[in-house]
Amino acid sequence: MDARPNSPEARDIRYHLHAYTNARKHQETGPLVIEKGDGVYVEDIAGNRYIEAMAGLWSVAVGFSEKRLVEAATRQMSKLPFYHDFGSRAHSPLIDLAEKLVQMAPVPMSKAYFTNSGSEANDTAIKMIWYRSNALGQPARKKIISRKRGYHGVTIAAASLTGLPNNHLSFDLPIANILHTSTPHHWREAEPGESEEQFSARLADDLEKLILAEGPETIAAFIGEPIMGAGGVVVPPAGYWEKIQAVLSKYDILLVADEVICGFGRTGEMFGSQTFGIKPDIMVLSKQISSSYLPISALIINDKMFEPIADESDRIGTFGHGFTGGGHPVAAAVALENIKLIEERDLVGNARKVGAQLQARLRKLASHPLVGEVRGVGLIAAVELVADKASKAPWGKPAALGALVNGLLQQNGVISRNMGDAIAFCPPLIITEAQVDTLVDAFERSLDAALPQVRPQG
Ligand SMILES: Cc1ncc(COP(=O)(O)O)c(C=O)c1O
Repeated sequence: MDARPNSPEARDIRYHLHAYTNARKHQETGPLVIEKGDGVYVEDIAGNRYIEAMAGLWSVAVGFSEKRLVEAATRQMSKLPFYHDFGSRAHSPLIDLAEKLVQMAPVPMSKAYFTNSGSEANDTAIKMIWYRSNALGQPARKKIISRKRGYHGVTIAAASLTGLPNNHLSFDLPIANILHTSTPHHWREAEPGESEEQFSARLADDLEKLILAEGPETIAAFIGEPIMGAGGVVVPPAGYWEKIQAVLSKYDILLVADEVICGFGRTGEMFGSQTFGIKPDIMVLSKQISSSYLPISALIINDKMFEPIADESDRIGTFGHGFTGGGHPVAAAVALENIKLIEERDLVGNARKVGAQLQARLRKLASHPLVGEVRGVGLIAAVELVADKASKAPWGKPAALGALVNGLLQQNGVISRNMGDAIAFCPPLIITEAQVDTLVDAFERSLDAALPQVRPQG
């Protein structure tokens, strides 16, 4: 770190409170200042180059230097830099994007609604669900079931949906009417000898018990990511979504698929819902919708959602919900061009093909003494590290080994993220097989470098 008083690092420490950072520790360590990007690489202020193995925040599908997105933004900025969709106003990029998203949806959908972030979109989903229950004359039907370790964002309601302690502690969350059911992580949570199918059946049973205990007439919706992302890249076990959906249909409970990470190709299909046979009533989209070049998110809803909402807005006089920047024309133009690029360059096919190689290479590390589990689908994966393979015990405090290996990986030219002791990989969808080899080689070197620290006696 450059310690001069006017260095960017020193000024960052002086003026900037960071997202998801230990603010006290940051005063000692300072920031990693990223200056530029090209393709799957980013470069820091000291000129060090890294493979961005998290695509930023699971989001930069087309890489960090896509000129066509810059041009789309510039064109729209010159033509109409801002407009909105309040009070029946519209603009062409938003009409085009709404049509595109509804047509792309893997299940019959009716309308798209626009917001700025995944959190806002999930808050909006909750409000739509509550509004619909009132419209249908079912005011008691307000509870939403989410999952422990699910991640749905950080605004008050979205953070309540999120099932991770750091998003609740000292924030006085979760709010009322949000319930959390079990995590579909077979390796960590299954009973000895329990098959994936048996484990899925037990989780579906847990869900049904929760619904019955609360009263089915009080449960409005279930929300889940097709693959849990920030909770540690948890791939659902065999039969999970099928069994969960059977319980939801039995009690007429809505299903929200949070596709914020899985959407637009990550799992090797356009949507995670296709990979896992999910038939949602609401799909929540963000991140790879615009490769995060600009903030934009969307909900796609079916007629079961739209019709009662339309009736209620007619009764009240308006659907009293909207964000100034929701469906911003420049962000919408960038999203349209980004989706065009994903289709034109078959980045979904690339996620499937190069993803298979990423998964195969990572699985070869399963025999490494520090590797507990390798999991993932397409271009999203995690390697969970343990100090003891048999007991799955961590090295000292949970997350210590994850942080150690993540730091070594950065020294070896790869930016990743440790979620506890799970090291995540979610590179841009444009990544090549050669770049995957470089990435996994660096990870292997990092694991080997960590081993003597974890096992000083060998
Ligand atoms: C599945 C999922 N939903 C929602 C969000 C929240 O999105 P945002 O950070 O844009 O509010 C995230 C962010 O990582 C996410 O991964």
